[in-house]
Amino acid sequence: MRIPNLWGLLSVASLAAAHLPPRNYATHDYYAIHLCSSTSPADLAAHLGLTYEGELGSLEDHHVFKAPKHSNDLVGDAVQDLKRRRRKREVGLESHPLDSIRFAQKQRIKPRHWKRNAIPEVSRAGPPVTDAVNTQREIARALEIKDPIFEEQWHIFNVKTPGNDLNVTDVWMQGITGKNVTACIVDDGLDMDSEDLKDNFFAEGSYDFNDHVDLPKPRLSDDRHGTRCAGEVAAGRNNACGVGIAYDSKISGVRILSGDITDMDESLAINYELQKNDIYSCSWGPPDDGKTMQAPGLLIEKAMITAVQQGRGGKGSIYVFAAGNGAASDDNCNFDGYTNSIYSITVGAIDKNNKHPYYSEACSAQLVVTYSSGGGDAIHTTDVGANKCTSQHGGTSAAGPIGVGTFALVLQARPELTWRDLQWLTVMTAVPFDQPSDWTKTTLGKMFSHQFGYGKLDAYAMVEAAKTWKLVKPQAWFYSPWMHVKKEIPQGDQGLASTFEVTEQMLKSANFERVEHITLTMNVAHTRRGDVSVELISPDGMTSHLSTARRDDEFPAGYLDWTFMSVAHWGEKGIGKWTVIVKDTKVNEHSGTFTDWKLRLWGECIDASTQPLRPMPGAHDDDDHDAITSVPAHTTAISVPTNAAAITANPSDHPDRPVNQKPKPTTTDEPASTTAFETPISATSTPSASSVPESFLPSPFPTFGVSKRTQIWIYGSIGLILVFCASLAIYFYLARRKRLQSSRDDYEFEILDDAEDEEGGVRTGMLAAGAGGNNKRRARRGGELYDAFAGESDEDLLSDSETEDHPYTDRDEKVYDEKNGIGEGSDAGGSSGSSSQGRR
Ligand SMILES: *[C@@H]1O[C@H](CO)[C@@H](O)[C@H](O)[C@H]1NC(C)=O
Ligand SMILES: *[C@@H]1O[C@H](CO)[C@@H](O)[C@H](O)[C@H]1NC(C)=O
Repeated sequence: MRIPNLWGLLSVASLAAAHLPPRNYATHDYYAIHLCSSTSPADLAAHLGLTYEGELGSLEDHHVFKAPKHSNDLVGDAVQDLKRRRRKREVGLESHPLDSIRFAQKQRIKPRHWKRNAIPEVSRAGPPVTDAVNTQREIARALEIKDPIFEEQWHIFNVKTPGNDLNVTDVWMQGITGKNVTACIVDDGLDMDSEDLKDNFFAEGSYDFNDHVDLPKPRLSDDRHGTRCAGEVAAGRNNACGVGIAYDSKISGVRILSGDITDMDESLAINYELQKNDIYSCSWGPPDDGKTMQAPGLLIEKAMITAVQQGRGGKGSIYVFAAGNGAASDDNCNFDGYTNSIYSITVGAIDKNNKHPYYSEACSAQLVVTYSSGGGDAIHTTDVGANKCTSQHGGTSAAGPIGVGTFALVLQARPELTWRDLQWLTVMTAVPFDQPSDWTKTTLGKMFSHQFGYGKLDAYAMVEAAKTWKLVKPQAWFYSPWMHVKKEIPQGDQGLASTFEVTEQMLKSANFERVEHITLTMNVAHTRRGDVSVELISPDGMTSHLSTARRDDEFPAGYLDWTFMSVAHWGEKGIGKWTVIVKDTKVNEHSGTFTDWKLRLWGECIDASTQPLRPMPGAHDDDDHDAITSVPAHTTAISVPTNAAAITANPSDHPDRPVNQKPKPTTTDEPASTTAFETPISATSTPSASSVPESFLPSPFPTFGVSKRTQIWIYGSIGLILVFCASLAIYFYLARRKRLQSSRDDYEFEILDDAEDEEGGVRTGMLAAGAGGNNKRRARRGGELYDAFAGESDEDLLSDSETEDHPYTDRDEKVYDEKNGIGEGSDAGGSSGSSSQGRR
């Protein structure tokens, strides 16, 4: 029950956000605290000896407190102390101000995000096609474009390889140029004094969270990235440089990449002025070094959900993230919790020849690709300075903003589109192209590739489709129970499978009509994380490669409550068996256990009138909804045989692996920079998340840590190792006995050999259809060359996409879907990069 209070009435969210004083981390420590709404933050501040600063932006009931710099955690210590006194049954503690704390986090400086740009080589493009040049000049004349580098902007109109561009000029001809739409570049600043940007600059949507001043002026010598991205979106039609994709849109800047920030700052930045900024452009993320696995902290996640639920007048803010530049280090955008968020549109890169540039990461969460550097050219855009241009903007950093500009055009054409409509339109209008990849026809009849998503953006096609698009109904979700597997993962060419069957009735009672995103949260205990890979096979037979092996990822604890995402099942009904297969393809001294998993389907609801908004996740949100969707946990875990010849599971796969790699496991998995404690909303599963009480019950264990993940890390690591060793021994014993004693159907786990794959029980048959059936083939893990730059900044990377044909398809063992007559597997043994081709 919510009791309105004076603070709640006084603090209009935007007012409070505007009035939150700047942080000064040199002199003070800060706390973000989620309070019951009936509690006065001033009272709590008085009780704890803290200074109350104000509301934490748009986050409901979240507040900011500060105290002069100190080493301990004042709030966490006070809560622990109260628990101790209660255990000693001290009197007078029945109700206490601290009881109103639902989450508290002392703010620590975060590890820096990486910008996702790559510097290309000097242009070695061929001569222009005369007809195309003439057309380009006619377009410029008709639109009165006099910008000096417009003719170089091949991503807008390509005169050298005609057709390899965004196909945007006929959208402009209709007067659709981004009017009344604002994009916000969350980056290292935005040169609002540039001739090319000043007329479109929108100060109200801008802020500098590094220097805590109003205007995000670039101040450091390498603060050029945000300005270049801004130019791609909204460079004006004028006499400076070129034009942006949405050259009449407004552009704002939020500066976070040029100094120390905390989770609190990032949560404020990522939905800054969410009623005025429509699209947030994010060309950065956790390090793309092939060994990091990092997700936004809970405050940031809540800030994104708040924006998606309340931003743009409730239609939802649009998040666009660059896919990441770590492909050459085996990185995959599903190890990045920003790009694999269901709330962000992940944009990867192709070069001017429609080829995959060496850097652009693949993953099942990637929705779309568009043009960027590689193949001997890069993106030509505005630079920092009064009238300065660059021809050197690149990486997935440059692809994301082209998506942002396109979405701004779409929103001008149809302002009422929700955040999910925009994703739908991207899926429906992206254009697959003639490049080898694991193109597979989805249930919607669209081609999907982990390398290229649903294809490349076509601005004209998207805007045309938007004009008549029927808005989707609100978002519904269905959560499976936690599926407890707790089985050893066989090494080498086998995998361990576990299945959950979704019934029509389950989806009906969840008001769930069809799938958009799926997420899968899982725990895998493993002594070398980079050896593990995960596939998910849907009832319709579509395979998502949720994770792939990474040669440099030595992290010794596997996946800790990690959530993977896939957009490859878009449009499926979701009814039937979902099978997750965990593989450990490296035969070595490292091994592990598949502990558990939980599947979530996100998509369109059946009945819009009864569908609530997703409740804000708490520290214990994994417990939500289990009661609504509870089913007997029907878990089967069997080994899936795979073609032994298909995989070379030899550590010498990469003879040229970088010699300067850091041998130590990454420590960036959990932001060591944050501590927090959480109190569960309820000690047990609640019947429904929407009826979560506002009070809290004392947790039986102290829970220091930003998130559940952190707690598992802190408390679970030792336990995990012990349990793992013990269960390994028990498992070997039991599995052996069972194999000797039972027939196949009598037990839930077995190692199948190849012959058994053909026909069998339901599970086996389904697995054969999905993973090893006769209409699928696998390509071999190739021994292609990798450049030795892992661990260096992406700014040091040089483009050389032409030497790399189609790395994704032969980098990891792929399943090629030949049903529907596409994506024919062609390569069984070549290590030179030949593979299947997918054709429209
Ligand atoms: C590009 O836009 C035109 C209209 O200007 C449209 O007819 C065409 O289908 C689009 N796509 C391509 C690949 O040209
Ligand atoms: C601009 O957007 C606002 C808010 O979305 C809307 O009220 C207004 O009518 C729009 N103006 C134009 C010219 O489209």
